[in-house]
Amino acid sequence: MPDNDIKSNNVIPNDLSAFWMPFSANRQFKKQPRMFVSAKDMHYTTSDGRSVLDATAGLWCVNAGHCRPKITKAIQEQAAELDYAPAFQIGHPKAFELANKLVDIAPKGMDNVFFTNSGSESVETALKIALAYHRVKGDGARFRLIGRERGYHGVNFGGISVGGIVPNRKMFGTLLTGVDHLPHTHLPKDNAFSKGQPEHGANLADELERIVALHDASTIAAVIVEPVAGSTGVLIPPKDYLQRLRKICDKYGILLIFDEVITGFGRLGTPFAADYFGVIPDIMVTAKGLTNGVIPMGAVFVKSEIHDAFMNGPEHMIEFMHGYTYSGNPIAAACALATLETYQDEGLLTRGAELADYWQQALHSLHDAPHVIDIRNIGLIGAIELEPIAGEPTKRAFAAFIKAFDSGLLIRTTGDIIALSPPLIIEKSHIDEIVERLRDILNEVE
Ligand SMILES: Cc1ncc(COP(=O)(O)O)c(C=O)c1O
Repeated sequence: MPDNDIKSNNVIPNDLSAFWMPFSANRQFKKQPRMFVSAKDMHYTTSDGRSVLDATAGLWCVNAGHCRPKITKAIQEQAAELDYAPAFQIGHPKAFELANKLVDIAPKGMDNVFFTNSGSESVETALKIALAYHRVKGDGARFRLIGRERGYHGVNFGGISVGGIVPNRKMFGTLLTGVDHLPHTHLPKDNAFSKGQPEHGANLADELERIVALHDASTIAAVIVEPVAGSTGVLIPPKDYLQRLRKICDKYGILLIFDEVITGFGRLGTPFAADYFGVIPDIMVTAKGLTNGVIPMGAVFVKSEIHDAFMNGPEHMIEFMHGYTYSGNPIAAACALATLETYQDEGLLTRGAELADYWQQALHSLHDAPHVIDIRNIGLIGAIELEPIAGEPTKRAFAAFIKAFDSGLLIRTTGDIIALSPPLIIEKSHIDEIVERLRDILNEVE
C-alpha cells in the first residue's frame, strides 16, 4: 500500500445509483465497480488493495505523476491562506504570477493568458476570442469556424460543433451554425504502423483551400485543430500537414487555434506541440497538465496582437465580456505554480524526448500481437488499434480495458483503439511492464 493511503476512502458505498457518471457505461460499471482510493507516482491503489500501473496519466493529465509533494503542499497552504477571491474586477497575486510563468514557457509571441476551469471551457473561450477579435478589428463578417472530422474539443456547444466525433454531436440538435470541417488525417491504408509522423496526408491540409473557395475567406474567423488528436484514438499529423495549414491560414487572415489540451505540458517531449512541430498558432488552448490534473483549470494563450486589439475604448469599460467565477482561482493557481515548479525541477517538459525512442520501439514490438491492425506513436503518446469484432464495434477494446484493469494496468480505450499516455515520470521498466501486460491481454481477449 502506498504511504498516503487514506483508509476512510476505502469503503465502496452500498448504493451507487445517484451518481450519473460522465462518459461511462453506467450500468456495466455499477454491476462491476472499479474504484481507485489512493495514488502515488506511477500507481493507483484500488478499493480492494491492488496496485494499478497508470499508463494514461489519469485522463492525459497527471503528467508529473500522482500525489506529488510540492503540489499537495501548495494546495493545502493556499486553502488556508486565501481560499477564494472574486475573479472579476479584483485580482490576487498568484494568478498574475502564473500567467507570467506560463508566458515564459509558451511559444514565442503568445504573451497573454485567459484562465478557465477545463479544456471544454478553454475551447469555448478560444472560439469566442477568435470571433470577437475579428469584430473589434472591424471585420465582424468573419463568423465561420472550421473544425475537423474526428476532432475532439470538449463537450460544450462550441466544442462539439467544431468537433467531429459523431456520437458526441448527433444527440444535440443543430449545434452552432456557420461551422465547416476539414477531413480527418487518418489514412490507415497508407500510414499503418507509422513510427512518429506519417509520410502521407499533408495534402489534406489543402482542403482548407476548398472550404475557403466555398465560403469565401472574408467569412472565416478561425480554424481549430488538435496538433495530435487524442480522444478520437490518437491521430498523428502527417509530415508537413500543420505547416501547410498555417500557411493557408496566413494567406487568408484566418486565425489558427491549436487545441493543446492533451499535448500541452511536455506530452511530446517539448513544452507544447507548437514547439515540437515548429508551427505557432494564434491561439493555444490548454488545461489538464496545467495543474497536473489535480485542480480543474485551463488556460488560453493568445498572441499579443489579439489581446491588444481588445484594449480599446473607455478605460472603465470591460473589454471582453467573458469569464468564469473560478477563472484564475487561488487554489488552482497555486496548484499550477507548484506543478510548473515540479516540471522544471525534474525536467519533465522535455523528458518525453529522452524516452520517445524507447517508447516507440516497445510499442511497435506488439505489431504481431493478436487483433492488432495499427500502432501509432509520438512523444509519450501511443495507440494500438484492434480489429473490431464483426458487428460489435468497441467490444474487443472494452474487454481489453477491463482485463487490463483486473490485471493491474490502466489503459484508455476509444472505439477499438487502446490509447496510452503515461505520466512523464515513467521509467523504462514501466514501459516494459506496460508492453508485456498488453501482450498478455491481447492474447487473452477474444
Ligand atoms: C483536445 C481536447 N480538447 C478539449 C478537451 C476537453 O477537456 P475537459 O474534459 O477538461 O473539458 C479534451 C479532453 O480530453 C481534449 O482532449
